[in-house]
Amino acid sequence: MCSIIGYLGNTAASHLLVKGLKRMEYRGYDSVGIAISNNDKIEVRKGVGKVAEVEATQSLQALDGHVGIGHTRWATHGEVTSKNAHPHKSSTGQVAIVHNGIIDNYVELRQKLQSVGYTFMSETDSEAISNMLQLVYDRTKDVKVSMMETVAALKGEYSFVAIFEDGTLAAARFHEPLVIGLGKTGYFVSSDVLGFAEHTDEVIYPDNGEIIVIGSNGLQFFDFSGNPMRHHITKVSKEFADAYKGDYAHFTLKEINDQPESMVKAGENHLNEMDKIVGLLRTSKTAYLTGSGTSYHAALVAKHIFLKYGKLRIEPIISSESRFYPDYFDEQSVVIALSQSGESADVMETVRIARSRGSKVASIVNIMTSSLVQESLHSVGLNCGPEIGVAATKSFTSQLSILYKMCARLSTDFNLPDFAEISGHMVETIASQRQIQEIARELKNASDIYVLGRGIHYPIALEAALKIKELAYIHAEGLPGGELKHGPLALVDSNVYVIVLNPSDSTHLDTLSSAHEIKARKAKVIGISDKQSDIYDHWIRIPHVAEPLSPFLEIVPIQLLAYFAAIEKDADPDYPRNLAKSVTVK
Ligand code: AGP
Ligand code: GLU
Repeated sequence: MCSIIGYLGNTAASHLLVKGLKRMEYRGYDSVGIAISNNDKIEVRKGVGKVAEVEATQSLQALDGHVGIGHTRWATHGEVTSKNAHPHKSSTGQVAIVHNGIIDNYVELRQKLQSVGYTFMSETDSEAISNMLQLVYDRTKDVKVSMMETVAALKGEYSFVAIFEDGTLAAARFHEPLVIGLGKTGYFVSSDVLGFAEHTDEVIYPDNGEIIVIGSNGLQFFDFSGNPMRHHITKVSKEFADAYKGDYAHFTLKEINDQPESMVKAGENHLNEMDKIVGLLRTSKTAYLTGSGTSYHAALVAKHIFLKYGKLRIEPIISSESRFYPDYFDEQSVVIALSQSGESADVMETVRIARSRGSKVASIVNIMTSSLVQESLHSVGLNCGPEIGVAATKSFTSQLSILYKMCARLSTDFNLPDFAEISGHMVETIASQRQIQEIARELKNASDIYVLGRGIHYPIALEAALKIKELAYIHAEGLPGGELKHGPLALVDSNVYVIVLNPSDSTHLDTLSSAHEIKARKAKVIGISDKQSDIYDHWIRIPHVAEPLSPFLEIVPIQLLAYFAAIEKDADPDYPRNLAKSVTVK
C-alpha cells in the first residue's frame, strides 16, 4: 500500500508533494517523507506519524527545489521508525526513491550490493532499489539504463519513483498503481489521481511493466526492455478532488450519514453496464463474486439474495484465497469483483487468475479510474463519492444496492426494492444516534463482543464484527446464531456483550432463543430489531421492512456504535492503527 508521488516542473515541489500526500494518506499513515533534488544535491526530510504531524516537526515544505518525491508508508518490511520511512537515498546519495509494494528478493540484492561496497541505513526491502539504481548509474551515468537494469533485477510487485541528483525524475510500474498527471506547471507521478487532482484532470495511465523518465527530453515511456511506448491522454473526473468532511467531526461519521442518499444513487449512471453484467450472469455456467473484507461481506449478502429470490447460484470467493483454488474458473465462468478502491492486490490477483483461465470478468467499483476497471469487461460505479475513512461504510450499502438492482433485473420474482423508502428509514435509524452513543460508552470496556445473525443477517454479523474490531479495537466475532451451542457459548460470561440482529422475520424466534441462551450465562444482550423484547439489556429499534431489505438498516446502528466506541476510547476512527484504506500488497 502506501502512497508515492513525484513532481517535476517550474514551481516549488515540496508544497505540491505535501498537499498530494495529505490526500493520499488513506493508503498508509505510518510515516511520511519527501526528497528534493536541487543544485545537484538531494535532501531528504522524514519522520513517523501522519503528514500534519511530520510537517510540524520536520518543516517538509521548507525544502527548496522544483523536482521531488514523497511517500506515506504502510510498513511491510521493517518497523515504523524514522530510519525506515521513505524516501531512501542510495549510500552515495545521488539517487533517492519512494516505493509502494514488496521486493521479494531484497535479501539477495542487499547482500550482493553490500559485497560491492554499498551500505544500508534501513531495514526495508525498498532500500535495495536505490542502491541498485546507484550501482548501474555509477557505471553508466544513464537514467534509462539504470531503470532498465534495476527492474530486471527486482522480483516482487512494485511501483517506485526515483530522483537523480541531476534533477531527472523516473518511475517504474509493476503490478502496483501509477498514474501520470500533466499539469500546467509540470508533471506529476502518483499512486492515485488524488495526489494532484486539483492541478490537472489530464492523465496518462502507464501499462504494467513500464518505465517513465521525465527529464531534459520531456516525458518518455518505455517498456522494461527499453522500447518506447505511446499513450493517450485520459480526462478524469475532478469529483474526487473534493473530499471534505464539512461540519462532521470525522470522515467516517460523514460517510455513515451520506448513506440515505448514496445508496439510492448507487449504479444509476451505469445502467447499461449493469444490464451487460446481468446478461453475462444469464449465459454463464458458473458465477462468482469476489472481494476482500467488507466487499466480501457484500458478496455474501448477494449470494443469499440471488439464490433465494433470483434462483441463481453465485459462489462468493474471498479474494486472498483464490490463488489456492484456480480450478474454480474456466471459459464458462463469470467473475464479478467487488471493490471500493479497485486496487486491492488480492482482488486484482483473483481477476488475473480468472482472466488467464478464460473467464469473463466484470466489476462493481467506486474508483472508476482504478486498475480493476481497466481489467474488467464491464464495470458499474458505486457513485457514492470519495470514501476516506478506512472503515468501509457507504461503499458497503452502495454495493448492496447495486447487487439488489442487478437481482431485480435478472429475476421477475424479485421486485426492485423501494430505495426511497429504505432511505427514509435509514434517516430514522441515524436519528437514534444519541442512544447508540450511550451504549457505546458502556460497551467500550467489553472484552469481547459476539454478533449473532441467522440467514441473511449472518453476513451482516460478520460485517458488524469487522467494524467493531477496526474502529473500536475490541475483539468481536460474527456468528450464525445456531452455532453458539457448538462451541462459542463456552466463552460467554458476564464480561461479554452479544449483539443480536433480530428483525421480526423468518429468523426472529430462533435468534430470540439464542438470546435466551446467552442471557442464562449472564452476558449483556443488545437487540437490533423492530420488535422489543424483555431479554434485551438495550434495544436499538430499527424500522420494520421486508426480510431481504433489513441488511441496509441493521448495519447502520452498528457502524455508529463502532464509531462512537472509537471516540470513547480516544481512537482515530478515520485512521485505525495498522490499517490502510487501499490494500495494494498481498
Ligand atoms: C473495511 O472496513 C476494511 N477497511 C477492509 O476490509 C476493506 O473492505 C477491504 O480492504 C477491501 O477493500 P476494497 O473494497 O477497496 O477492495
Ligand atoms: N515495502 C515497503 C516498506 O515496508 C513499502 C511498503 C508500502 O507499500 O507501503 O517500507
